[in-house]
Amino acid sequence: MSDAPLSRWEQGGEKNTGYARRFAELVESGADVDGEARLADTLVPRHARILDAGSGMGRVAAYLQSRGHRVVAAEPDHRLVEQSRQMYPDLAVLPHDILGLTDDVLAAAGAPNAFDLVVCVGNVVTFVADGTEVAVLRRLGELLRPDGRILVGFHLQGGPETARRVTPEQFAAEVAQAGLLVDHRFGGYDLRPVDDQYAVWILRAAT
Ligand SMILES: C[S@@+](CC[C@H](N)C(=O)[O-])C[C@H]1O[C@@H](n2cnc3c(N)ncnc32)[C@H](O)[C@@H]1O
Repeated sequence: MSDAPLSRWEQGGEKNTGYARRFAELVESGADVDGEARLADTLVPRHARILDAGSGMGRVAAYLQSRGHRVVAAEPDHRLVEQSRQMYPDLAVLPHDILGLTDDVLAAAGAPNAFDLVVCVGNVVTFVADGTEVAVLRRLGELLRPDGRILVGFHLQGGPETARRVTPEQFAAEVAQAGLLVDHRFGGYDLRPVDDQYAVWILRAAT
């Protein structure tokens, strides 16, 4: 773990445990939980290097690994790391938050430190610790290969009560501060038009 202050996810405590339960049930029932991962798969060449930053119970990273990509999953919540390891035993998970994903940590894990795609979906950017939003985005940008991109998704309305409310304008300003550019914004992982409910962003480094 890094020295970062408590994330909103950690502060939410038991209020956030519904996520783990809900996705376990969805997977068990055969529901489609791969929408984010299918979009991610279209953004990269075959056998790409992909980082799933805030991988939760592992559904996105596991799908991408099953497609033949070299996936690094990173998740700081030890309960979710445990759930992920039980549900997807072939998926290695680094028990670190984004700011804790230093070059040394990645090297020690035998992981690359530059990726074709960083996936940061499911409200992760609205759950990071207050005051770390720009630093987190900057670190994700540092982890990109030259043509690499970042896929981000979060609720604008109706999201988890413990997450930060952020407007598209606020987020775009944080993206710019972090030295990133917005390539695209959509209203969902099916690339529906922009709306006021959910925001999907494809970002890249400014230089
Ligand atoms: C709603 S879950 C989504 C998990 C997963 N991305 C998914 O879509 O299934 C939100 C996640 O954000 C993670 N998170 C919060 N702050 C983080 C940080 N600074 N670095 C990495 N993950 C973080 C939490 O640990 C939690 O797993």
